[in-house]
Amino acid sequence: DRSIKIAPSILSADFANFGAECEAIEAQGCDWVHVDVMDGHFVPNITFGPATCAAIRPHIKGVMDVHLMIAPVDPYIEAFAAAGADVLTAHLEAGPHIHRTLQAIRGAGCKAGIALNPGTPAEHLRHLLDDIDLVCVMTVNPGFGGQSFIHSQIEKVRELRAMIGDRPVHIEIDGGVDPKTAPLVAAAGADVLVAGSAVFRGGSVKAPEVYGQNIKAI
Ligand code: DX5
Ligand code: ZN
Repeated sequence: DRSIKIAPSILSADFANFGAECEAIEAQGCDWVHVDVMDGHFVPNITFGPATCAAIRPHIKGVMDVHLMIAPVDPYIEAFAAAGADVLTAHLEAGPHIHRTLQAIRGAGCKAGIALNPGTPAEHLRHLLDDIDLVCVMTVNPGFGGQSFIHSQIEKVRELRAMIGDRPVHIEIDGGVDPKTAPLVAAAGADVLVAGSAVFRGGSVKAPEVYGQNIKAI
């Protein structure tokens, strides 16, 4: 399914009300919820772990998309799978054995995602394309919401779309997605658009249909 999906990131939601926040964004038509796990080691910020994912799972009817910004990854895969992750995304930069990690994610029953930091070239995925269900192109340096979109990554999205060909692999964009940048990455071949601060700005959920209208206008 290559239709454009908006995946609100609860990194910008009210941390004391994740359940209600997830229900509110689904009520507005989002069928993916993006969950950012940070360890204060791979990235310079700490969020939460598998227990929080398990607690919010009953409040998400659609896809729970878990973005692991942690290193190492492998010791925690089973716990995030048991917490109900549908997609489990690990960073290519998080360790020396990404292929093993991807196999373990699929082995745990989740869809396997791989995230690329802005400095990592698309070429690094060439021999992994049959081992992934999603590639997450970071359009900011991971760690914080509300950063500016890095335009040089649009070319990477085009390269990845060409490399992927007709494989059933989603291209997800994470960082600085707003009604201005969303159409650019959609035109380059992305189909899952993570949006944190743009959706939750001002402490309340903003209608994600805004993005849909812009994207359809391409
Ligand atoms: C950043 C996270 C993102 C973040 C995006 O490290 O991976 O998912 O929530 O936030 P915005 O949309 O505000 O750039
Ligand atoms: Zn993320």
